[in-house]
Amino acid sequence: MRRNHRNQNKNFLFDYKPKCTIINGDSRGNLVNCKENVDLIITSPPYADARKKHYDSIHPDKFPDWFLTFHESFWNALKPEGSLVINIKDKVVEGVRHRFVWRTIEKLMNAGWQAIDDYIWHKTNPMPGYWPTRLRDGWEYCFHLAKSKRPFMNQDAVKMPMGDWAESRLKKLGEGDKSRNNSANQSGFGRDLSRWVGKNTVLPSNVLSIALVGKNKGHPAVFPIELPSFFIKLLSSKGGLVVDPFAGSGSTGIAALSLDRDCLLIDTHKEYCDLAYTRLFFEAPIYADIIYSNISSIESIIQEKMTKKTKQKSKRNGEMFVEDLLAMTTPEFIQNVKEARAIYKAGKSKSHKKVC
Ligand SMILES: C[S@@+](CC[C@H](N)C(=O)[O-])C[C@H]1O[C@@H](n2cnc3c(N)ncnc32)[C@H](O)[C@@H]1O
Repeated sequence: MRRNHRNQNKNFLFDYKPKCTIINGDSRGNLVNCKENVDLIITSPPYADARKKHYDSIHPDKFPDWFLTFHESFWNALKPEGSLVINIKDKVVEGVRHRFVWRTIEKLMNAGWQAIDDYIWHKTNPMPGYWPTRLRDGWEYCFHLAKSKRPFMNQDAVKMPMGDWAESRLKKLGEGDKSRNNSANQSGFGRDLSRWVGKNTVLPSNVLSIALVGKNKGHPAVFPIELPSFFIKLLSSKGGLVVDPFAGSGSTGIAALSLDRDCLLIDTHKEYCDLAYTRLFFEAPIYADIIYSNISSIESIIQEKMTKKTKQKSKRNGEMFVEDLLAMTTPEFIQNVKEARAIYKAGKSKSHKKVC
């Protein structure tokens, strides 16, 4: 059934429980059932030639063509007014920036995608380091692409408080502020500040200042939950469907469920799907349904992680995350969460339905 994000009834909050399906597989083959059902695809694909130890990496020269192999699945899954947000960063090759990211976006545009805007994720705590010809890398792209030039957008959902500066500035409006006129330096940009009087909130800019995830979550490239949250609020509405086709540790799932959207998470690595399930089990709202058919029980994943930790002592398995789990996962705690969630085991519950 087609979803209509503008068609929400008053009892929405009482009768709707968000659900998330986690699929261990290739997203190209696992989106076929989502025919024009998806409001937003938000994702961070594997960056070219990065994290080779952890998952497949693609040479920067080959990246644009590789990414284009996902185009059809993404296009067919999205609603006509849906959006695709790609968080990515280009790479330094032999001391200079390789522009595979720009080439990928160009190719997507040639395939029919509209480039709605380029957002910058400004990392407030960039990694330390020294490079002879560059400074610390403090930002990444988030490209907003869409099937149409007017995708769904709820700007009210991301408005922010105006701030004290505005109050004092708006008290002192001069004549030149009260109509839209050219700026003093004749740049051609003008503004009518009087339109802001009496308003408490303003639109944010397309630069998002968000700190990097400080804690090891058991995946090498976790993005902060605030990043998908921003785009989920802006580009979908409650009850909508959000997909992350390169889901990793499931950050998008936590964001979507917390904001009352359904979601579909896909990753080729079972280890990361297990991790996503574990994170969602503990971090997503208690009323959310999490459907992951590959797993027999949360206990078995935790047990496996703990065994790996003692056997390998490898950072890759997310020691700090496992420490957190160990602290939380008494049998009583798990039982309580389970009961509260009324967990559905794949195929056993009649009310179990995949998101698409
Ligand atoms: C940069 S990570 C995503 C991290 C995620 N944003 C998070 O917060 O944890 C990219 C993920 O894409 C997965 N991946 C690579 N190729 C894939 C494919 N064809 N289909 C599904 N997942 C894939 C990798 O296993 C990896 O976990």
